[in-house]
Amino acid sequence: MNSYGHFDDASREYVITRPDTPWPWINYMGTGDFFSLISNTAGGYCFCRDAKFRRILRYRYNGVPMDAGGRYFYIKDGDTLWNPGWKPCRTPLDFYECRHGMGYTRICGEKDGLRAESLFFVPLEHRCEVHRVKLSNRSDHPKTVRLYAFVEWCLWNASTDMENFQRNLSTGEVEVQPDAIYHKTEYRERRNHYAFYGANRHFDGFDTDRETFLGMYNGFDAPVQALAGTSGNSVAHGWSPVAAERFDLELAPGATEELIFVLGYVENPADAKFSAPGVINKTAAREMLEAYSTGVRVDAAFAALRAYWDDLLGRFTVASDVPELDRTVNVWNQYQCMITFFMSRSASYFESGIGRGMGFRDSNQDLAGIVHMIPDRARQRILDIAATQFPDGGCYHQYQPLTKRGNNDIGGGFGDDPLWLIFGTVAYLKETGDFSILDEPVPFDNVPGSEVSLLEHLKISFRRVATGLGPHGLPLIGRADWNDCLNLNCFSLDPDESFQTTENVAGGQAESLMIAGLFVAEGKDFAELLERLGDADASSVRSAVCAMEDSVKKHGWDGEWFLRAYDFHGGKIGSRECDESKIFIESQGWCAMARIGAGEGLCDKALDSAVKHLECEHGLVLNAPAFSSYLYQYGEISSYPQGYKENGGIFCHNNPWVIIAEAMAGHVEDAWRHYTKITPAFGRQSHDLRKVEPYVFCQMVAGAEAARPGEGKNSWLTGTAAWTWKCVSEFILGVKPQYDGLLIEPCIPLKYGTYRIHRRFRDAEYDISVRCTDGGPGKVFIPYSPGGHVLEVTV
Ligand code: GLC
Ligand code: GLC
Repeated sequence: MNSYGHFDDASREYVITRPDTPWPWINYMGTGDFFSLISNTAGGYCFCRDAKFRRILRYRYNGVPMDAGGRYFYIKDGDTLWNPGWKPCRTPLDFYECRHGMGYTRICGEKDGLRAESLFFVPLEHRCEVHRVKLSNRSDHPKTVRLYAFVEWCLWNASTDMENFQRNLSTGEVEVQPDAIYHKTEYRERRNHYAFYGANRHFDGFDTDRETFLGMYNGFDAPVQALAGTSGNSVAHGWSPVAAERFDLELAPGATEELIFVLGYVENPADAKFSAPGVINKTAAREMLEAYSTGVRVDAAFAALRAYWDDLLGRFTVASDVPELDRTVNVWNQYQCMITFFMSRSASYFESGIGRGMGFRDSNQDLAGIVHMIPDRARQRILDIAATQFPDGGCYHQYQPLTKRGNNDIGGGFGDDPLWLIFGTVAYLKETGDFSILDEPVPFDNVPGSEVSLLEHLKISFRRVATGLGPHGLPLIGRADWNDCLNLNCFSLDPDESFQTTENVAGGQAESLMIAGLFVAEGKDFAELLERLGDADASSVRSAVCAMEDSVKKHGWDGEWFLRAYDFHGGKIGSRECDESKIFIESQGWCAMARIGAGEGLCDKALDSAVKHLECEHGLVLNAPAFSSYLYQYGEISSYPQGYKENGGIFCHNNPWVIIAEAMAGHVEDAWRHYTKITPAFGRQSHDLRKVEPYVFCQMVAGAEAARPGEGKNSWLTGTAAWTWKCVSEFILGVKPQYDGLLIEPCIPLKYGTYRIHRRFRDAEYDISVRCTDGGPGKVFIPYSPGGHVLEVTV
């Protein structure tokens, strides 16, 4: 079994010890609106605010070799050309190490006695990446080396950059100063932004024209200039602008040289774009270069970044006897929640940054992972999302982060969407106690003048689902529910048609048990909220919830588990009567979390059935047995080969629903087993099998019916992050934020049931020692009061 790395808990880093990982293992940098993706070989790109419209570095998703393009340092030492991160030259190194930390990445390479340590991070204060390279001569003879720092510019719109070559190849423009290269394509016309790559010393040569640097038919692995130790001093006019900066260095034995680079992005006011006709105003860039011009300044900025993460991750920590649990809870799960909140589903190594904006449903769920860390940003996000809602409670499925405007690019009319606004808002309220958000005026579809209170938006959301019922009194599914691929009103036979955007067939009555469960769970929360507010609508919400529970018991129970849906014609989906996909996970999770029929034993039975039919070595699959052929009446779900994605994959996002339901039902061992199966730190899959990063959750791990069960895909940007966080923090460790305090109600095997939690809750700090006894599971309520508290809790 190959190992490619290990956790370093003390420094909150994952240490990669071989560059040839089974798939690029990446990290993210950025905390505000400038973000970067960086792989373990320094591949990747950055953008400001929007990965589609303000892409700064070019990146080729389908390129070969994989992960070509990034911030590359080339070192020419004698006849050898190498990179500290191994790629792109792939010259064998004497030492390689990549450390992905919280918002930064260090890559260190050594070759022939020359060590190159690089640090990459996005500082808190500026829209830039800072790159610091330290070259140390560890040999016993002097070295004359040439260092090249290289990036390739994207012509801003990442989509047209890959399509509109008849235009693009004529538009590229740059400016060159002795220590910086400026990318200013389209700045002459409507753009008011440019990018730059500058150094804290003058370079000895440069190129800005890609072909001059690389050679027409060479790849990044063989730049002719670097191979020859020269520069063409080329100024790009059209074609492909790059920044390649050369530094000639003499290093005595034992000597170290440090260079600092800033890869920055600047927006200028319209009336201050130029300093002379055609010449960009570089004031802001010069300020940024100055801010990171010395090692001391870089150290200070880096320390500030570390303090930022210390603060965020210091709000919830656990000390247990299970190191895998501690590192997941204290570091990687919370970190992934932050990244997923920042990125939504836009930019990863599986999301191209041009496809999807912020999802209504996804972004609401993401809140559950971050509201304890960045409540103010959660507040703003809720208001932004709510502002894309329509007056009838429906909503755009996504909105663009740059404009905050909704669009129908990936469809609309998903039956579950409105309920997630209640989910997100309740999570915010319980964490913060900030009820003032409910009074905020929020427009519909961003139309000024249409504002109503956020509370009214929630009511409209609830009503939308409560009144949109089908023949069995269950919620209409619309285009789909949480499962985007269950397209029951669609019937597509045209491969050029998108399942998400084709016109649904009129008259569809397809109903969803997943939405029914969600409706009951969120409806109970909503009723509780309204009761606290003394709002008269509470009782009608309660009765709608009761009616839904009755409908589920009457029409949604299959004998051993909950049905999944009724199709367009009223046929059952997810029933023992079906030939395939007799059981689905979503309705077991949601109906059991909603405790529908718990008294009659329905939840216990449903969960046992999930274990029996859906559990495999690596987690719980979505449906079983998977569909073996395309069934046009079910839509995209059956378009996937068996064992993948929504057709029998382990769609990790929904596993915590079952785990939470198991915890609610008191099934301690089942909850723990499911949790350890999907949590990568427990190392269920070898690195070679899992393929993707061992420190973050995947959207999907191939299921039992796949060709390679256990193979991970779509790492990083997934609702799995927030849901596993909710699951482990609230239901396994059992620290549940409530309107008036913290409810401690763990569900963890007794042998791990003694642990300490530090929890910041509003302006209070709680240090809680939990001791579970075999008399459990019990619970203890800790009322909120400001200040610091040290508590022993025995449950
Ligand atoms: C993807 C989508 C999410 C959806 C899920 C299941 O993760 O981002 O919105 O719920 O797939 O289809
Ligand atoms: C789900 C799937 C994703 C697909 C989307 C729209 O989110 O997981 O693969 O792109 O639905 O069909």
